Amino acid sequence: MPRLALFASGNGSNAQRIVEYVTGHPSVSVEIILCNHPGAYVLTRAENLGVPAILFDRETFYGTDYIPRLLADKRIDYLVLAGFLWLIPPAILQAFPGRIINIHPALLPKYGGKGMYGERVHRAVIEAGEVESGITIHLVNERYDEGKILFQARCPVEPGDTPESLAARVHALEYAHYAVEIEKWLTNDN
Ligand code: GRF
Repeated sequence: MPRLALFASGNGSNAQRIVEYVTGHPSVSVEIILCNHPGAYVLTRAENLGVPAILFDRETFYGTDYIPRLLADKRIDYLVLAGFLWLIPPAILQAFPGRIINIHPALLPKYGGKGMYGERVHRAVIEAGEVESGITIHLVNERYDEGKILFQARCPVEPGDTPESLAARVHALEYAHYAVEIEKWLTNDN
């Protein structure tokens, strides 16, 4: 019975989609949402969804064992990142080997790495003249966006696209695929 923790620090639309997808699931549960950004809308979503949420700062994340202890106390099996921008520290990577997944709003290995998130990704894709973009679902390691790729889906970049219009197309792909691919990953791993 996999127990998930979601790490999300922004809007949280993917986190909400995942919670809704697993609600009533016979063998998967979202136990907690972890957030590093005070005031992030994902905290409101967590409250509305009835999922416990905690807020932590950089010092707590990198300088203490508070988060690994919390994850152990809650008997968390897998970590799901959905709009979480900080590198995962070694103690957490070691506690969850091959058990941390992320989604990136472009076709890695292009348009990834430190500082490549949100609108910046879509702007870079458009400025490079790409004719397609998409999503990449991948395992997490000690470097930004470099873990093993599990799944990709593609969409066109249309003439006249803005970062906003491309983001909307990519978000639709995220909602269609992330929860489903998480479920497949958990199934293959168990
Ligand atoms: C998504 O585009 C995801 O690919 C990226 O961060 C964004 C989060 O969006 N990792 P939201 O907070 O789920 O709306």
